[in-house]
Amino acid sequence: MNYHVKDLKKYADEGKKRILWADGDMPVLQQVRDEFTKRKPLKGMRMSACLHITAETANLARTVKAGGADLVLCASNPLSTQDDVAASLVRDFKIPVFAIRAEDRKTYYQHIKAAIDHQPHVTMDDGCDLVNELHTKRQKEAENIICSLEETTTGVIRLRSMEKQNSLLFPVIAVNDAATKNLFDNRYGTGQSTMDGIIRATDFLLAGKRVVIAGYGWCGRGCAMRANGMGANVIVTEVDKIKALEAAMDGFLVMPMAQAAKVGDLFVTLTGNKHVIRPEHFRKMKDGAIVCNSGHFDVELDLVGLKKMAQKTRRQVRNHVDEFTLKNNKRIFLLAEGRLINLAAAEGHPASVMDMSFSTQALVGQFVVKQKGKLAPKVHDVPQTIEQKVAHLKLKSMGLKIDTLTPVQTAYLASSTEGT
Ligand SMILES: NC(=O)c1ccc[n+]([C@@H]2O[C@H](COP(=O)([O-])OP(=O)(O)OC[C@H]3O[C@@H](n4cnc5c(N)ncnc54)[C@H](O)[C@@H]3O)[C@@H](O)[C@H]2O)c1
Repeated sequence: MNYHVKDLKKYADEGKKRILWADGDMPVLQQVRDEFTKRKPLKGMRMSACLHITAETANLARTVKAGGADLVLCASNPLSTQDDVAASLVRDFKIPVFAIRAEDRKTYYQHIKAAIDHQPHVTMDDGCDLVNELHTKRQKEAENIICSLEETTTGVIRLRSMEKQNSLLFPVIAVNDAATKNLFDNRYGTGQSTMDGIIRATDFLLAGKRVVIAGYGWCGRGCAMRANGMGANVIVTEVDKIKALEAAMDGFLVMPMAQAAKVGDLFVTLTGNKHVIRPEHFRKMKDGAIVCNSGHFDVELDLVGLKKMAQKTRRQVRNHVDEFTLKNNKRIFLLAEGRLINLAAAEGHPASVMDMSFSTQALVGQFVVKQKGKLAPKVHDVPQTIEQKVAHLKLKSMGLKIDTLTPVQTAYLASSTEGT
């Protein structure tokens, strides 16, 4: 078996413990795995997954393998790999992994190449890097692809732009857009784990601080909610009028970044956009301001601009914290090199929320294999039946029951004439 991970001997024991611990909080995925073990719906399928290599992803990988797939994993971000998990996947679960934390750009792409060399029928992506390689450099391998599954907002944005240009070579399912994914994973997962990453990196007290959240999508909402809950005064910056209104009516201050830059103690970008915080903003910040990103790519902060305006860079004043001293003598602290703070400085989303995202992924994997040849090369939504199944199983696992419509209510909702 080919693989490239850090050190099997040194890390695999710890990785196994973490994978099994996470599994305990993933009851829906466990149930899907049991079904897959019995029925092997992915038998004969080669799959390549470019995902954050975390304990939760390991449990998705185990599920897909239990379903009969021949799976290879590579990292979807150079700083999100958990080396212990990667080692255990190889040693204990016999799943080939190509991922080493803090790998350079060349190694990152070599690892994606290794995943494509596997000649997959189905791919899973988090950010569209693997699909992009298939479209730009590996069109031959793209011919074998039945479908690809995309996990995050940024990846779906890239895929929709390919769809618009009619350049998609195979169908894609926007797993990110499922309610069972983004309502929970992006909001509660990113919300909590982003704060966790910031606190682990800095030991920062949120109470009484001014926390600027750039972007009030699902991730931004989650972060604003959690920062607020910990006593911070939250300021939101937005470019979308409706989201800005929503933030204002949720009780947050809304202002442009140029204004927020002057007053913020901590800045978090979650926009999926580029250069949201730029030199003109860094220049206005208070001495000691902390900046970080939890959006998919490390482009949300203009890091080249920041480096240029610094008279002195002192790397690593603390693990995950780089200090930049600007020409005006003010210091800016950059966390985790501007990469996703929750995965770089903490453990990513808690297992309980990834239980839903990854159960949806696994069931969509089964769906696309059944639909082989029937889906057009477009971006498709997750079928409602899968969303309902995941929500049903999650509620059940939480011991929650809900009401059902009475026949009178069903008829009332279906009627266009009854007004009383
Ligand atoms: N850290 C994680 O683990 C994690 C998890 C899920 C998603 N993500 C990533 O986080 C990012 C946001 O995801 P989302 O699901 O919240 O997306 P979203 O589309 O729901 O929200 C993004 C928001 O940012 C706003 N925005 C865009 N440009 C802006 C600018 N210049 N200034 C202020 N606001 C701006 C948009 O109007 C939108 O409201 C994406 O890159 C996504 O891939 C990260």
